[in-house]
This record gives sequence, C-alpha cells and structure tokens, in this order.
Amino acid sequence: MIRIITVVFLIACGQGLRAQEPDFGGPKDTAYADALWQQMLTLKLVGDDLEEDQLYTGVQPHGFVLENLVAEATLEGRTGALVVKRNYGPSGIDMAVVERDRVAALKAVTVMFRRDASYDPGNQNWFYAKYRPDGSLDKNPKGVPLAGRVAKGVGPDGTDAGCIACHRAAPGNDFLFVTDLGDS
Ligand code: HEC
Repeated sequence: MIRIITVVFLIACGQGLRAQEPDFGGPKDTAYADALWQQMLTLKLVGDDLEEDQLYTGVQPHGFVLENLVAEATLEGRTGALVVKRNYGPSGIDMAVVERDRVAALKAVTVMFRRDASYDPGNQNWFYAKYRPDGSLDKNPKGVPLAGRVAKGVGPDGTDAGCIACHRAAPGNDFLFVTDLGDS
C-alpha cells in the first residue's frame, strides 16, 4: 500500500514539475546546453583548437569583436542548424590581438540551435544559450542559467528583455540578424 501511494505521489510530482517547466534555465535546458557544448567541442566551434572565420566589429549587446560560425549539430537524434557567435573582448580590443590569440580573447559564446517544429513554433524553434569560455552557462541577474527559450517576452523591469525579445526584430522573420542559412 505504501509503495502504491509512493508511486502515485511520484507520478503526481513528475507531472507537477512538467507543468512548471520554465521557458528557460530549467534542468532540461541546462542538460541540453551541456550536450550542445560537447558537440561544439567536437566540431571545433569552441575549445583550444578553434575553427576560424572572419572577425568583424560588432554592436552591443554582443561585444566588440565577433565571429559567427554556422554548422549543424545532432542532439537527441535530431539534426538542426547551429549558429555560434564568439564574443571577444575586453571592450575596445584590437582585432589584430584577437586574431593572434582567439582563445585568450574569448569572453562569451552565444548560440542558436534550431530544434523541432514543436519546440517554440511562434519563435522559429530556436534554442538559445550563452556560455562562458569554459563552457559553463552564463546567468541572468536573477541567477537563472541562460539556456532555452531565453526571455520570450519583455522582462519584469521592461529592459532586460533577453535573446528572443530582441532577435524577434531581425529581418526576414527567421530571428537571425546577419546569418544566412540558405534553405536549411
Ligand atoms: C538587444 C538585442 C539583442 C539581444 C538581447 C541578443 N542579441 Fe543576439 N544579436 C543581436 C544582433 C543585432 C545581432 C547581429 C549583429 C551582430 O553580429 O552583433 C545578433 C546576432 C546573434 C547571433 C548570430 C546569428 C544572427 O545572425 O543573428 C547569435 C547566435 C546570437 N545573436 C545569439 C544571442 C543569444 C544566445 C542571446 C541571449 C543570451 C542574444 N543573442 C541576445 C541582437 C541581440
């Protein structure tokens, strides 16, 4: 009897948790982001042995010297487009300095990975994550890890709107400002 009650209780808890699954920063999101980081290491998009692309001078909030790489990643048996933005600093850093040592100048890695059609249909199904150079997730001012459907709406204070609220304004309704994925 006790065992049955325990099972019922656990199922109820499980459903309660699922109902409360947040838009971003929950355990599923952080686990997914960790798996994505491992793929990015294999693809040399992060880590000590970096694939290189064209550096360019960026705009806020992303930083001063930037680099975008487009790839495909496979997670949980599904392949999707992956856009990786490396953010170099500190502010005002010379592009030549970054060119000489990308690993030393790396400040953050912001990524968008396209998930299946049911993930976030109103927002083109992008999974967002912001990592520190060591692969740990950056957090918002409230301490929530930046992974998942990061800030679908405007934040409580109206300013800290997060990835989606800003990327929604990108031309072409694909939520990408500068990256052209072609047909993918
Ligand atoms: C206030 C607006 C704003 C916010 C907030 C923002 N971005 Fe961006 N993002 C941009 C702009 C503008 C670009 C293109 C210009 C550039 O490269 O800096 C861009 C480019 C990117 C790109 C390259 C793909 C592309 O062409 O758009 C990625 C990946 C990206 N952002 C990820 C993120 C993630 C992850 C977050 C949240 C942690 C985030 N961004 C928050 C404005 C924003």
